[in-house]
Amino acid sequence: MQHTAFATISLRRLDISPPLILAPMAGLTHSALRCLILKFGGVGLLTTEMLSAKGLPNDNPKISPFLIRKPHEKPLSHQLLIRNSNEIIPAIEKLHLLQADSIDINMGCPAPDVKRTGGGCSLMDDIEKSLNFVKIARKTTNLPLTAKIRLGKELNEQKLMNFCKGLENEGIDMLTVHARLAHESFDRMPRWDWIARVKSWLKIPVIANGGILSVEDAAKCLKISGADGLMVGRAAAMKPWIFRDISREIYGISNYAEISAFKLSEIYGFFASELTENFPPERQLGRLKEFTHYFSRNFHFGHVLAMKAQSALTVKEALERADEFFAGCAK
Ligand SMILES: Cc1cc2nc3c(=O)[nH]c(=O)nc-3n(C[C@H](O)[C@H](O)[C@H](O)COP(=O)(O)O)c2cc1C
Repeated sequence: MQHTAFATISLRRLDISPPLILAPMAGLTHSALRCLILKFGGVGLLTTEMLSAKGLPNDNPKISPFLIRKPHEKPLSHQLLIRNSNEIIPAIEKLHLLQADSIDINMGCPAPDVKRTGGGCSLMDDIEKSLNFVKIARKTTNLPLTAKIRLGKELNEQKLMNFCKGLENEGIDMLTVHARLAHESFDRMPRWDWIARVKSWLKIPVIANGGILSVEDAAKCLKISGADGLMVGRAAAMKPWIFRDISREIYGISNYAEISAFKLSEIYGFFASELTENFPPERQLGRLKEFTHYFSRNFHFGHVLAMKAQSALTVKEALERADEFFAGCAK
């Protein structure tokens, strides 16, 4: 694998180094997963999942599963799901109190209820509304302000260019592009070449996202897209060590403390203890199931582990079933 010169993205007072970013994922990108990823290292910027800008001002960071955070989870970007312009200032003021390191605006979520209520990728159809959101947000914060988009509803180069340049002109500091159209599923190969087009239009850093599931994918995506950095989503839950591997193989960073051969069952156990020790009881089971869905892919018969977790009625039951599964694997 060829080493790319060590790269840092600097946004205002934030250094993203290496330029490898965890993707916001509802139900997955929370404190327990972030702490697990940090155990391995190699990630330059962590994130929350999308946070409803409307609800955020009233959320209690001590018990909200979206906001629970340990001091070492840094730097941390908070992603906002904004539906109305009047939600922006109170939400950002709350993020200042929470000591967010960076703020991202969700402009790519295709979930029907998000689109219907005017957030996520529906914003890409309303450039005026989107730019107004950015204008208000930019006036309200000096933190790095970023946005995450898909390629749009259909492939329309002119429309996409106007949208991206508009975001840059209004003060977005970095743009992440999930290289799929709004309706396209994860089965479809992402269009990394379209990220190269976006990159050619902008001066701000452009981050490539979508379909990076291995070090090889990361290298290929960087080559095709020419992006300034990469954002990894599902693979971070499947292989929480992926950032470390990419940073080693692609950015040539090797000064991590050696982790002596680790066991998958121990990694799972670490995640489970972060979850059970820090989250309110009623917020644990769904998150354990969601993580297990992805992590189970590391095992030959991982679907068995995923099914056992899926049908468990309590966290205790899910963890006992997982222990049985791991014991079976060890035989
Ligand atoms: C379970 C799940 C939840 C997601 N939630 C969000 C979200 O809250 N905000 C967002 O911008 N994208 C969200 N996404 C999209 C991811 O951030 C990312 O763009 C997508 O998974 C493609 O990257 P990947 O191939 O590396 O997973 C979600 C994706 C998944 C699988």
